[in-house]
Amino acid sequence: MGQRKVTARIVLHRFRGRRAESLVQIALGESAKRVHASAPVKTNTRESDYVLGTHDDEVARLGLQHRIWRSVVTDCWHRAGITHGWRVLDVGAGPGYATADLAEIVGPSGAVLGIERSARFLEAARERCARRGLTNVELREGDLMEVSLGNLGYDASWCRWVASFVSSPKKLVENIAEALRPGGVAIFHEYSDYETFRYMPVKPALESFMVEVMQSWRAAGGEPNIARELPQLLSDVGFRVTEIVPRVRTVSQRDYTWQWPKAFIQINIARLQELGRATPEWRADVLREFAEVEADAGAWFTTPMFLEIVARKE
Ligand SMILES: C[S@@+](CC[C@H](N)C(=O)[O-])C[C@H]1O[C@@H](n2cnc3c(N)ncnc32)[C@H](O)[C@@H]1O
Repeated sequence: MGQRKVTARIVLHRFRGRRAESLVQIALGESAKRVHASAPVKTNTRESDYVLGTHDDEVARLGLQHRIWRSVVTDCWHRAGITHGWRVLDVGAGPGYATADLAEIVGPSGAVLGIERSARFLEAARERCARRGLTNVELREGDLMEVSLGNLGYDASWCRWVASFVSSPKKLVENIAEALRPGGVAIFHEYSDYETFRYMPVKPALESFMVEVMQSWRAAGGEPNIARELPQLLSDVGFRVTEIVPRVRTVSQRDYTWQWPKAFIQINIARLQELGRATPEWRADVLREFAEVEADAGAWFTTPMFLEIVARKE
């Protein structure tokens, strides 16, 4: 993609970022809100806190990301035993891409509860589930650092790319432990080695982009390589870790996975500038190098490595 097209997308994203939207706020613990219910309007002040943003382009990017890793994810769910009738928690559900897939798998006799702190993402999740005719999904607004899920007796939890963004992964894991039944299974897809994000041939500005992304998450109180801490945190609260699988791909432009960093760079470079972490010069360097790898049929990309962690509550 040429730089002009990239710049046009950034301008569009900025315009969208200023647009007022109708938002829904459902406090965790309040009466359950089913996906087909109509929503009162209330502004959520937390939208701007989240380091990656919650605008329309980010919703679309999370969908792309879900499609790229979907086969790995569903294979993991099947091996972990998720099936008809199970009650599954989607922790930090975002715009609900995995939530909807989980709801289809567990079927009408099962249930999925999605917890998410962004009202904007929740609204997108509700629309998605309603479009797919799902009536076994409950979506609740809640900050996992501020509320306890309680003893729900659930069969499984799914947590993907959330632990990197919370101030206390310990609290996150404790929350999940309390919500599951004995024998319940906790599943995570979380980064362990974000530094493997690399284009070949190596490009200095794209390398610095990877470093800046990690720093921005840390500045917001998170830890990109959080998966390294999860096995210990899980065993501390009574889980037995049964499986840890590294997930990393090295791909050329012909692979669909190539679209993952492409979307991320285009959207996140603008977000970094919004956060005051990117100068126009640096942004131009990153986008120029990105245009170079796009124009190089011999270029390759290695994804930031994440761990698939499966643990059973004893
Ligand atoms: C990278 S997104 C991943 C979303 C979803 N799990 C997925 O895989 O598509 C991270 C999500 O975690 C949510 N999140 C971060 N901190 C949270 C918190 N303290 N409580 C609830 N949700 C949180 C964000 O709002 C965002 O939706």
